[in-house]
Amino acid sequence: MLTQADVHWIELDSVDSTNDYLSRAYQQGRVSGCAVVLTQAQTAGRGRAGRSWKAVPGASLCFSLGLPVAGYQLPFLPLCVGLAVAEVLERFEVPVQLKWPNDLIVGGQKLGGVLCESFHAGSGATTVIGVGLNVHPVDVPQALSGAGASCLVQWVDASILPSLRELAEACVLSILHQVEAARAQGISALFKQFALRDAWLGLEVVVLEEGKALFSGRAMGIDENGAYLISTSNGLRSVIAGDLSLRVAA
Ligand code: BTN
Repeated sequence: MLTQADVHWIELDSVDSTNDYLSRAYQQGRVSGCAVVLTQAQTAGRGRAGRSWKAVPGASLCFSLGLPVAGYQLPFLPLCVGLAVAEVLERFEVPVQLKWPNDLIVGGQKLGGVLCESFHAGSGATTVIGVGLNVHPVDVPQALSGAGASCLVQWVDASILPSLRELAEACVLSILHQVEAARAQGISALFKQFALRDAWLGLEVVVLEEGKALFSGRAMGIDENGAYLISTSNGLRSVIAGDLSLRVAA
């Protein structure tokens, strides 16, 4: 099992995107094994579906963790990572919920997101896990954020929050634990933990593909295969993670 001692840390003041930096570093052979890039600011941070991810100096936790493992060997990785980060924030009594498949939500608003990418580098298959978390208030355009964005200091007294490095270390350790637990115990325990924090359960939602509405219905939760179930006027439909996402119906 990987531990913190196996992790090579790189800390930067600013970078285009920690996912891109780490991917380049693996591809150019500058890092191997398990590595983390933590930055104070990103100039071209990326979210899912080609969206950008804003991070001004010191206001967000932005890091990427690289693992020398192919994506197919890490099933349901975004759920695993979301759960791992949620468990860290719960230590500070932040009532985090998870929005399938890879958002962290608090008070109905987005607190953070996860971007997992796999590729083949010189040294072999590699997966980069990017985590972005709003720590201080962020100015996110309404069109991008939907219900708006939240941040940690709205929920935790800033004086008890650890440093970004300490928070990143706790998240990395928790991710390594969750990945190991999913491998060792199977994914049904992960799905149960996700279900306890499911932000959309019971709500009317719209299923989107590349931003376009496909159908709507009531969110029924995750099934035993990790698909998300929606009760529609035409019966139960399951949504597989990928390009699809859910939004609460207006
Ligand atoms: C999303 O919600 O769409 C995912 C957001 C992921 C943002 C993080 S910040 C650190 C890492 N580097 C990036 O460019 N993106 C991820």
